Amino acid sequence: MWSGQPSTPLVSETRELRPGRALDVGCGEGADAVRLAEHGWDVTALDVSRVALDRAADHAGRVGVQVRWLHAGLVEAALPPASFDLVSAQYPALLRTEKHEAELALLSAVAPGGVLLVVHHPAPSKEQANAHGFDPDEYVSPADVAALLDDRWRIEVDETRPRNVITGAGSDHTQDIVLRARRFPIPLVAEANDSAVARISKFELSKPASGQGRDLSRDALAGTNRPP
Ligand SMILES: C[S@@+](CC[C@H](N)C(=O)[O-])C[C@H]1O[C@@H](n2cnc3c(N)ncnc32)[C@H](O)[C@@H]1O
Repeated sequence: MWSGQPSTPLVSETRELRPGRALDVGCGEGADAVRLAEHGWDVTALDVSRVALDRAADHAGRVGVQVRWLHAGLVEAALPPASFDLVSAQYPALLRTEKHEAELALLSAVAPGGVLLVVHHPAPSKEQANAHGFDPDEYVSPADVAALLDDRWRIEVDETRPRNVITGAGSDHTQDIVLRARRFPIPLVAEANDSAVARISKFELSKPASGQGRDLSRDALAGTNRPP
């Protein structure tokens, strides 16, 4: 059962950030996206599950905040590079590939000066995972993301914390791995081009529940560095 509550690490790790453009990757039923929008962020949230997105949009409608919902996988969404001041992936279920497409898509979406926040449960043992019908080796972990951070990044947080969530999905987990990295404010050439914006637009839910959704215009995605 979904708790409807935002992730504790999302709340704590974004509290001191100045609101800007945020991307919630694998937003599920939208509690984090709604939380960020309530706190002044311009939020784009994507998920492969249309059912989850519809519930998320309902939630946003009830709360009265706007979120741009994208029905797409992270890699397939072909997000405009360097377009978000915060890229958040909370307990993502991103497939690991030889070319690290998912990890690179996360990194690429972060604007100069922006923050990447990846949170996950520690991987269960193979036996535990197999009992639940999945192989943890098939999924991207915070460590996989951290391994790709080069000298354009500063790791601000990389730790395992106790977790105390007593209801909803994931309440059986007792720890969170939290990776927070900041991209240094050096812009790359040819970022945020028009064709990328055109590609992303086709995934936007045309009629999100309760009237959310905005044009993904170049102005909306363009921006300046927003250090905290
Ligand atoms: C464990 S849930 C976490 C949901 C939410 N972030 C939270 O913390 O409650 C993982 C979510 O990732 C979504 N997902 C799986 N593969 C994805 C992908 N390739 N791109 C985007 N979302 C994906 C699933 O549909 C699901 O909603």
